[in-house]
Amino acid sequence: MPYENILVEERERVGLIRLNRPQALNALSDELVDELILVLERFDADERIQCMVLIGNEKAFAAGADIPMMAKFSYMDVYKGNFLTRNWDKLRLIRKPIIAAVAGYALGGGCELAMACDVVIAADDAKFGQPEIKLGIIPGAGGTQRLPRAVSKSKAMDLCLTGRMMDAEEAERAGLVSRVVPANQLLEEAMATAQKIASFSQPVLMMIKESINTAYETTLSEGIHFERRLFHTTFATEDQKEGMRAFLDKRPPSFIDR
Ligand code: HXC
Repeated sequence: MPYENILVEERERVGLIRLNRPQALNALSDELVDELILVLERFDADERIQCMVLIGNEKAFAAGADIPMMAKFSYMDVYKGNFLTRNWDKLRLIRKPIIAAVAGYALGGGCELAMACDVVIAADDAKFGQPEIKLGIIPGAGGTQRLPRAVSKSKAMDLCLTGRMMDAEEAERAGLVSRVVPANQLLEEAMATAQKIASFSQPVLMMIKESINTAYETTLSEGIHFERRLFHTTFATEDQKEGMRAFLDKRPPSFIDR
């Protein structure tokens, strides 16, 4: 199926999605987000795909929600049209890991999109920020919720209240990104990470995502309990038998995703 705002390909067991509105620094129009969700749901349901990589271009991962689109909205437009809830909430339901590979600007909704992914790898020229305050709005897709969980209350306040940008080094120090790589190696590093993840058991990597995300939704004792139940569940998989047998046989495992 042809898409107008994204480019999609499959590389072995990894689904690669490139945001593709370069003329607007990959601003997140409703159409773009709809296409993104559609393809993520497609990959999520595809047995052959283990992991997804989401990338922009050299200049921008995404410079936020589409400002000309939002400038026309009234309160009734956003409320009755269910702006953001209509499509963004579906991102949370994707069960396979998504790696955000960020080069250039990740601002506003772009930063929120990266934070909604599971691993964030940044190019050394990446810039993160929540500049909504400059437009007279607040972050609307998790910026005030995921950012303090990812960094700290103080830095989240600093970024959201001043609208300033944070470079890749600061973002790594603050814990927003898992690693920083040279800009010209971003895609390669993200794909290598995705291929590594893809080499493991599908139900097990899905359980890890589910369990880590539970850490953000619950108390420690409930989270530990949830983890324990999933841990026990892995012993019902054929891949646990294979993984441990392979270790004992001193050979690489051959997982069958069951
Ligand atoms: C639509 C955008 C855009 C955006 C940039 N462009 N950001 N179009 N929506 N969010 C367009 C510009 O209008 C311009 O188009 C082209 O992309 C290149 O941008 P320039 O400004 O010329 O580039 P530069 O001088 O390099 O500055 C880059 C920039 C700046 C610092 C990133 O573009 C900027 O501040 N953009 C807005 C960032 C922002 O406020 N994001 C938050 C949006 S609110 P033309 O046609 O003029 O060449 C938000 C709410 C989230 O995200 C709600 C949940 C989704």
